[in-house]
Amino acid sequence: MIYIKTKKEIDFIHESCKIVAETLQLLKRNVRPGVTTKEIDQIAEDYILSNNAIAAFKGYSQGGSSVDYPASICISIDEEVVHGIPRNRALKEGEIVSLDVGVEKNGYFGDAALTVGVGNISEEKKKLMEVTERSLYIGIEHAVEKNRVHDISFAVQEYVEANGFSVVRDLCGHGVGRHLHEEPSVPNFGKKGTGHKLKNGMTIAIEPMVNMGKYVVKTLFDGWTVVTADGMPSAHFEHTVLINNGKPEILSVC
Ligand code: MF3
Ligand code: CO
Repeated sequence: MIYIKTKKEIDFIHESCKIVAETLQLLKRNVRPGVTTKEIDQIAEDYILSNNAIAAFKGYSQGGSSVDYPASICISIDEEVVHGIPRNRALKEGEIVSLDVGVEKNGYFGDAALTVGVGNISEEKKKLMEVTERSLYIGIEHAVEKNRVHDISFAVQEYVEANGFSVVRDLCGHGVGRHLHEEPSVPNFGKKGTGHKLKNGMTIAIEPMVNMGKYVVKTLFDGWTVVTADGMPSAHFEHTVLINNGKPEILSVC
């Protein structure tokens, strides 16, 4: 079931999304060699709580036998694609770090992510981050009322593959708002003109995960961290987007 949000609900979702965006900007300024991912997680948690909001990922259950998500945000380094668990690991110059933040306030959710380099990074990694971010905005441009969900997916895939990279298949974007994850699923690959029709009042998280090498991923024994099978780097950018008056409006900006 895809929820069409009312004006009131959209205001609440927007409020959560603004906190997400502010948190990401704050974290970006704290990414440097020597800082641990646990320290970054703590900064995020403090900021979110100081806004009378909750870190939406903390305690999240994937269902089944896996452990609940143990931290406030996800921090994924280099070959880690998404869902990296913050820990006592210090960032090193040359790494790329994906920060993924979800916030719940007044019962409504916002979700966004970005990837940032630690100090100086290689040209290849720079290109990977640029192509991934650009693919997100291309996907967003296709989130218009006359389109279907996989028009977004197709546009992301086409751009990424034309640039020599690959899109992760096992994880997708998603509806977001009343819950962290709602219908529809928003894949980063697919066939034009298929999937659910996009309608005004829908709020979706578009989130390309782009690998420098092959698209195959696996999950580590911690039950969460998704890594590339070939060990090559991966980048991730995400926004929560509202379809408003037929057009996309990015909610997860400050
Ligand atoms: N933005 C990610 C997603 O939509 C983060 C989820 S982490 C989790 O899947 F712990 F909440 F699962
Ligand atoms: Co998401």
